[in-house]
Amino acid sequence: MKKNQKIVFVFFVSTIFSVVFFSFKKDKIEFIQPKGFPKPLYDFSKNPLTDAGFKLGRKLFYDPILSKDSSTSCNSCHLQFSGFTHVDHALSHGIHGLKGNRNSPVLVNLAWQKFFMLDGGVTNLELQPLAPLTNPVEMDENMAHVVMKLNRSHYYRSHFQQAFGDSLITGQHVLKALTQFLVMLESYHSKFDKVMNGEEKFSVEEENGFRFFKKNCAACHINQTFTDGAFHNIGLPYDAELKDVGRMKITKDKRDSLKFKTPTLRNVAASYPYMHDGRFKNLDEVIDFYATDKSNNLAVDKLLRRKIIFKNNDKKDLLAFLKTLTDKEFLNDLKFRDWVNE
Ligand code: HEC
Ligand code: HEC
Repeated sequence: MKKNQKIVFVFFVSTIFSVVFFSFKKDKIEFIQPKGFPKPLYDFSKNPLTDAGFKLGRKLFYDPILSKDSSTSCNSCHLQFSGFTHVDHALSHGIHGLKGNRNSPVLVNLAWQKFFMLDGGVTNLELQPLAPLTNPVEMDENMAHVVMKLNRSHYYRSHFQQAFGDSLITGQHVLKALTQFLVMLESYHSKFDKVMNGEEKFSVEEENGFRFFKKNCAACHINQTFTDGAFHNIGLPYDAELKDVGRMKITKDKRDSLKFKTPTLRNVAASYPYMHDGRFKNLDEVIDFYATDKSNNLAVDKLLRRKIIFKNNDKKDLLAFLKTLTDKEFLNDLKFRDWVNE
């Protein structure tokens, strides 16, 4: 090859390489409407998704700068491998080693939720991050101070400029960026989805478990989101130490005492411990609880006041079905990881 030809060849190869590399790096952030799911409730028109906004939200989610002493990030209590919750303890641990009084929920398919928090105390996803940010036992910060710290950073100024066209960082844009990351946490690649889409088949146990689930559980854990987004008293005994009255805390209505939001069951096998206070260590304990007779407790939701009868292998089969809701693609998706240099 002549020298000139060599230069042209090297130029050609490096152009192709960079086109491929940058188009891979840029891969567009897009909200997918998964097959069979209802329409999302989140209003995307008020906060249009962009690559830059999503990546900025991801960076903020993993950055302890959002807490008073830079010790605690959102990710401290919401870890990807467990469906963005924590699994090592029942009640969440925040700043200064302080304990909260609730178990952190999974962050999965939030675009379909109308109420946030286990008592529905927040009704707008964009305002949700303010709760942990300002909670004295979670991040103990205030937004004005976060904004001041972020404005000192060249990195953040240039990334807010890219995402929102304004290099002066505002609290509203911090919340919008975090929300772009949160709404993208979509899980719809579990075995259950593949079976529903005709790509895979349930085992005999899973099939029996699904039948049992449809009969006894799906009235509250409804459709592909596995939650009706409503509040129910499922008969868990009141914890006199935590004094958590659930939905009544918000509505002050006695009829809402001990009602909690129905959680999604997506990735449930990975997100132990269970219930608002993490009182059950594993799914066997949850299933044993649903098998107890609640017919004498008039406060319990009427759907659960009749005894659920488990026969033969029903418990094992139900467990096998619940495990089909694990979405390994979601739990390992690199696009939700912490990318330090983006
Ligand atoms: C100290 C642990 C902790 C930290 C830090 C934390 N969270 Fe949470 N998160 C929780 C707990 C506990 C709840 C449930 C609170 C409740 O119901 O009162 C929750 C609830 C949520 C919810 C509502 C989910 C639902 O299904 O209702 C979202 C969204 C959320 N957190 C996002 C975030 C973001 C974003 C950050 C960072 C700004 C963050 N969290 C920081 C523990 C934490
Ligand atoms: C009346 C509505 C209702 C029915 C019926 C129902 N659930 Fe639930 N489920 C809930 C509510 C509400 C919670 C949350 C309670 C709490 O946090 O204190 C819950 C929590 C759970 C949890 C814990 C999830 C977590 O992340 O902590 C699992 C697992 C579960 N249900 C499975 C089932 C199964 C299996 C059935 C059928 C045998 C069933 N549910 C029937 C409303 C219901």
